Amino acid sequence: MQQGRDGFSSRFGVIAAAAGSAIGLGNIWRFPYVLGENGGGAFFLVYMAFILVLGVPLMLTEMSIGRAGQRNPYGTFRFLAPKTKWYLVGVMGVAAAFLILSFYSAVAGWTLQYLFDAVTDGFSGKSSVELNGMFESFRSSTYAPSIWTLVFLVMTGCVVVAGVEKGIEKYAKVLMPLLFVIIIILDIRAVTLDGAEEGLKFLFHPDFSKLDSKAVLEALGQAFFSLSLGMGTMITYGSYIGKKENLFSSATSVSLADTAIAVLAGVAIFPAVFAFGIKPDSGPGLVFITLPNVFQQMPGGYFFSVLFFFLLVIAALTSSISLLEVVVSYFTEELKISRAKATVISFISIGVFGVMCSLSSGPLKEATIFDKTIFDMFDYISSNILLPVAGFLIVIFTGWKWARKSVSNEILGKDKPETSLFKVFMFIIKFIAPFAIALVFMNAVGILDL
Ligand code: TRP
Repeated sequence: MQQGRDGFSSRFGVIAAAAGSAIGLGNIWRFPYVLGENGGGAFFLVYMAFILVLGVPLMLTEMSIGRAGQRNPYGTFRFLAPKTKWYLVGVMGVAAAFLILSFYSAVAGWTLQYLFDAVTDGFSGKSSVELNGMFESFRSSTYAPSIWTLVFLVMTGCVVVAGVEKGIEKYAKVLMPLLFVIIIILDIRAVTLDGAEEGLKFLFHPDFSKLDSKAVLEALGQAFFSLSLGMGTMITYGSYIGKKENLFSSATSVSLADTAIAVLAGVAIFPAVFAFGIKPDSGPGLVFITLPNVFQQMPGGYFFSVLFFFLLVIAALTSSISLLEVVVSYFTEELKISRAKATVISFISIGVFGVMCSLSSGPLKEATIFDKTIFDMFDYISSNILLPVAGFLIVIFTGWKWARKSVSNEILGKDKPETSLFKVFMFIIKFIAPFAIALVFMNAVGILDL
């Protein structure tokens, strides 16, 4: 650890914070709706394959780069590959963080409104159709979604100003395990609903006729998004991990926890989608429309709805903190401004874009580029373009540019002999991952036509 540099204080803290970054709206809001739009089971299988073959190795790679560099992503690439253009990967990360935070805080704003509705018992007695109408009228209004977006960004800023150990770690450690428990309770209710089987079939029974090249790219984008990869988040967090930690086990535990939450969220949502006659391809509103129906069907529904939306806000917060941390650590370390100032500057600029994203379901609905709203555009460019491209560059860097010895020193410990697991990892990083990412990407954007 560099002198005077903030860092995580314990092993569980590292995993909780990195898992806190990975687990968020990506698992509970984005995964179910993207899966629903892409036909279900077949998408799920492809997603799982990407997590295993590309996600875990890339996470390990990012953590190693960060810990070796001891800096923000931009500074890390300058340090590990001086006098080259690799630092541009860090710049892409900062750009992606801006875009992601903008639409992310818009959705987090919706969760704040839903927490408010849950507390004030706003769902009770409403039919499925009414709950749908409630969501649509809320998100197309002007003030409430924008104000909640800004409230959420202020909350994020407050934690980031407090720094790594006292801010991020402290919250993540307690609240992430609680989220696990709540989702399992929701799952039990969902799978025992009348008509639940159809939802489980949708999720777990692959129908490959529904899978096209666009869906495969969506699955890749979702895998990277969910694991917080391709943006420098895990490089930044890696830089806070102590030299004694085993990165291999950190990366696998975090990926496992993240995937478990996504699957559990899918199991909570799809049985209910079918039981209540909601369309699985309803888009970004899916969770907000579906779960209030479930709460109404359970004893203690009021209590569970409040707790669930509270934890969803926290899950979003531990992720948005990690996004903002990339921007703030870049500003403080490279532009030499104070943490507080960096946070305020980020807040103002991201606030403007965040409000634009939240208005793009309402007053700015017609403002489209290539048929996509501002919100969809930000999501598409970051998840399906910037994350895969940066992920590609990061594996190329590790496989072909960074000395193999340095990689093994970081992952296995100084001067330890290579294990067979490490050899498999290097093979994936050198050959399989770049090839697979490039193929999926070029096929979906039409450069290649398989
Ligand atoms: N993974 C987070 C989620 O699932 C979001 C997130 C945090 C993220 N940091 C990221 C996504 C970096 C992409 C890149 O909600």
